[in-house]
Amino acid sequence: MDARQLKVKAAETALEYVEDGMRLGIGTGSTAREFIALLGEKVAAGLNVIGVPTSEATARHCLELGIKLNSLDETPELDLTIDGADEIDPSLNLIKGGGGALLREKIVASASKSMIVIADETKVVEKLGAFPLPIEVMPFGLGATRLAIERAASRLNLTGTLDLRHSGDGPYTTDGGHYILDASFGRIHDAEALSEALHAIAGVVEHGLFIDIATLAIVASDGGVRTLKATE
Ligand code: A5P
Repeated sequence: MDARQLKVKAAETALEYVEDGMRLGIGTGSTAREFIALLGEKVAAGLNVIGVPTSEATARHCLELGIKLNSLDETPELDLTIDGADEIDPSLNLIKGGGGALLREKIVASASKSMIVIADETKVVEKLGAFPLPIEVMPFGLGATRLAIERAASRLNLTGTLDLRHSGDGPYTTDGGHYILDASFGRIHDAEALSEALHAIAGVVEHGLFIDIATLAIVASDGGVRTLKATE
């Protein structure tokens, strides 16, 4: 099976967890897109759900398919969020934000009773960090924020490049109007300590470490689809 077919398989399995009347957080990225396409078919066939999108791109896709959407102001508590990930560790801690939507993704997932991650097998790792960690930052004070991140990382024995994400001629801008620094720290041995250290920096808006948020991961490979629950 090619990568797209694996994403579809994971998305199909996740759809089995969606019940009529649910308030659903809807993720962003190529795997989430496959889920949205399948959800659109179910909605066309009569399934009734209210979605809260994690990005403008997801909102547009959902509206094209007739999936009803609310904001988190209208629907502040959600039953389930289904989203992709860039990396998944055995505790179901994640790196997210490769697609730039990490802030809204984290707000939406945190407002949900549960979060199912959908992915192909390549996303499963023993330790997070081979995928560069996206850190969403304020454009104001970028240089100072970058330095503060480098110093905080170094206190945790993490070093590596911090690359400002670009799009076309300029910096990539998130839906919230922020920039992203992609941090190539390598293996992250203490994700909680790094998360705390990043949150303590004024110019950091959010980072792509999702710790203790996902409740289930649905992972597709050529051998079939497996469901992972967090191990301590
Ligand atoms: C979007 O910001 C990301 O968090 C995505 O969920 C993540 O990058 C996975 O994307 P793919 O499904 O495209 O790999």
